[in-house]
Amino acid sequence: MNSDVQRLLVTGGAGFIGSALVQMLLGQPRVQVLNLDKVTYAANPEALERFATEPNYRFVQGDICDRPLVDKLLAEFKPQGIIHLAAESHVDRSIDDAAGFLQTNIMGTHVLLDAALGYWRGLQGAEREAFRFLHVSTDEVYGSLGPEGLFREDSPYLPNSPYSASKASSDLLVRAWHQTYELPTVVCHASNNYGPCQFPEKLIPLMIIKAQAAQELPVYGKGDNVRDWMHVSDHVRGLLAALERGRVGQTYNLGGGVELTNLELVRRICRLLDQELAGSRRQPHEELITFVSDRPGHDQRYALDIAKAQTELGWAPQVEFGQGLADTVRWYLGNQAWWERILKERYNGVRLGLA
Ligand SMILES: NC(=O)c1ccc[n+]([C@@H]2O[C@H](COP(=O)([O-])OP(=O)(O)OC[C@H]3O[C@@H](n4cnc5c(N)ncnc54)[C@H](O)[C@@H]3O)[C@@H](O)[C@H]2O)c1
Repeated sequence: MNSDVQRLLVTGGAGFIGSALVQMLLGQPRVQVLNLDKVTYAANPEALERFATEPNYRFVQGDICDRPLVDKLLAEFKPQGIIHLAAESHVDRSIDDAAGFLQTNIMGTHVLLDAALGYWRGLQGAEREAFRFLHVSTDEVYGSLGPEGLFREDSPYLPNSPYSASKASSDLLVRAWHQTYELPTVVCHASNNYGPCQFPEKLIPLMIIKAQAAQELPVYGKGDNVRDWMHVSDHVRGLLAALERGRVGQTYNLGGGVELTNLELVRRICRLLDQELAGSRRQPHEELITFVSDRPGHDQRYALDIAKAQTELGWAPQVEFGQGLADTVRWYLGNQAWWERILKERYNGVRLGLA
């Protein structure tokens, strides 16, 4: 982090990736973080409790769609940068009801962009020069790949789910606010993240939690959809590199370079659980795999060309996937109280997104 970037407004800092980002930022004493998060079902209250005692941290529970609140926070906190992660993030939920996705992901991004523009225009000299609006997006905006090829930053936008369409819309707004008003923006497109504290509706935690309880492991379709997996800590380091070294108006792909079919991924989780839970009542865990009806509009394959981020940001993923996945499995086995509370209060593991 260079000396000009000290006060950072993070939106969605109570979520899976946002809380990992805030954790890393709070380790840098020269950085002050203001976390604006609505605390939806997806938020991690334990992370908020953990951060609360940090001297360089402030939390505001609020909605990014609330323009007066965003204006007030910008005027009071005077950030040198905004890292925008707040979003509705689960594809299956977007299939069931897209309204909240359009509201937060599109309208909320519009509110932030417009408020940031007014704030940035009021800055002078070096502060105005250094200000960045970093927008956190997804590889899903590019649509679906066949067996070959990689998405590049100049690949066409062809989103297929309500979630990816809402993220694509927000990316285009960010582009427009840069092109039209010269707001200094940078956009990152990340592949599928994994790691500790991911909400249990997502594939990896859901499979670990169901498998350790000897419940059926629902794999969509034939399980042959391919995803590129990146550890959340690699994503966070990539975002900070983009904030510091990203060229204004540019987009950067951040991916782990680990392509797996969903079936292969679930099998790997099962094999890790076979080792971790040796002697448990249900072995091998692979026998729990059950094929269920596919996600409507299920993208076949995502894979990212990360050469631009490697060259321009000096960033590359570091966490070896086998190690990262094993650590993640152990984290869920060792933090049962964390996810049991969620299963009891907010999500009971049922199938979502059948349209
Ligand atoms: N998880 C992934 O694999 C992945 C991959 C690529 C990009 N992304 C993007 O990264 C960002 C973070 O993803 P995540 O997995 O941490 O999501 P998450 O669902 O775990 O967390 C989202 C956070 O945003 C907050 N939020 C939601 N609506 C809000 C609103 N209106 N105002 C303020 N806060 C609000 C929630 O309370 C929550 O804390 C999202 O923009 C997502 O599109 C995620």
